[in-house]
Amino acid sequence: MTTEQQNNDKYVLGHADHEIERLSRQAQRYEQFTRAFFHDAGMAEGMRVLDVGSGGGDVSFLIAQIVGPTGQIVGFDPSSHAVATATQRAQSLGLTNTHFITGDASNVTFAEPFDAVVGRFVLQFMPDPVAALRRLASFVRPGGIIAFQEMDNSGCHAFPPVPTISQCMQWLITAMEQSGADPRSGLKLWARYQAAGLPLPTLSMRALVGAGPEHPIYEGLAGIMRSLLPTLEAKGIATAQEVDVETLAQRIGQEVSANQATVVGQNLIGAFVRTPAA
Ligand SMILES: C[S@@+](CC[C@H](N)C(=O)[O-])C[C@H]1O[C@@H](n2cnc3c(N)ncnc32)[C@H](O)[C@@H]1O
Repeated sequence: MTTEQQNNDKYVLGHADHEIERLSRQAQRYEQFTRAFFHDAGMAEGMRVLDVGSGGGDVSFLIAQIVGPTGQIVGFDPSSHAVATATQRAQSLGLTNTHFITGDASNVTFAEPFDAVVGRFVLQFMPDPVAALRRLASFVRPGGIIAFQEMDNSGCHAFPPVPTISQCMQWLITAMEQSGADPRSGLKLWARYQAAGLPLPTLSMRALVGAGPEHPIYEGLAGIMRSLLPTLEAKGIATAQEVDVETLAQRIGQEVSANQATVVGQNLIGAFVRTPAA
C-alpha cells in the first residue's frame, strides 16, 4: 500500500496489510454469527448478492458458500487496495462467481438488481447511513433482502471490571466518534431502516463471551487498537506507550484471570427485512 493510498483512505482503521489481516481473523471469530444471521434473513442457494464494504472479502466468501456455484456475489469497497486483496483471495479460493469492484455506497450503480444487499460493519463508517440505506435498497429486486450486521461497541464489558478493557473501549469509542464513525451503529439500525423508508426490520444480537488468561476477544481488542493507533496518536487520545499494543492481549488476559472476570465482546446487532413484493 502506498503512502498516497493511505492518505486517500478515509476509513478510520485504514487498509494497511495488518488491518486486512485483522479483518480476516475477526471474520473467523464472527463467521458463525454472520452465517446464522444471513440464514435467518433468508439468503439461499442461487441468489445474486451485493456485499457493501467488502474489505478483504471475508463476508463475500461466506456468502459464496451459502449461494453456491449457481449464485453470484459482487463486493464493493472504496479502497482499491482492499479490492485488489479480495480479488486475489477469490482467485486463490477458485471462486469464479465472486467479483470485487472499487466504489462507494454514495455513488456506485448497478445495471441488474440483486436478490439481497448485505453488509457487515460498514454503515458505521458512512457519513450518512440513512441516505446510503435508501440508495442501496434501490438495488434490491422487489421481495428481496436487505441485511446489515453492525457493531455496538458500548456492549463490550467485563464483570468484575477489567480496567485495561474499560480503558481500551473508552479510547476506541472516542477515536471513532472524533473520526466521524459510529461506535453504536448496531443500536441505531432499527431507527435507520425506518428513516430510510424500509419496512420494520427483524433484529438479532450475538456476542462472544469468555474468561481466563487467553481468549480470542483479547486478541481482537489488541488488533483493533493496533489499527486505531495512528488515529489515537494524531488526535491526542492516547500514546503508543500508553496503549503498548504488543503486550495488550497478554495484559488483558492477566487482569481477567486475576479478577476472576467474565468478558463480553462487542455486540453484533443484525437487522434484516424483505422489501415489498412487486
Ligand atoms: C470494518 S471493515 C468490514 C469489512 C467486511 N465487511 C468484513 O466484515 O470483513 C469496513 C469496510 O467498509 C468500507 N467502507 C467505508 N465506507 C464505505 C462506503 N461509504 N461505501 C462502501 N464501503 C465503505 C471500508 O473501506 C472498509 O473496508
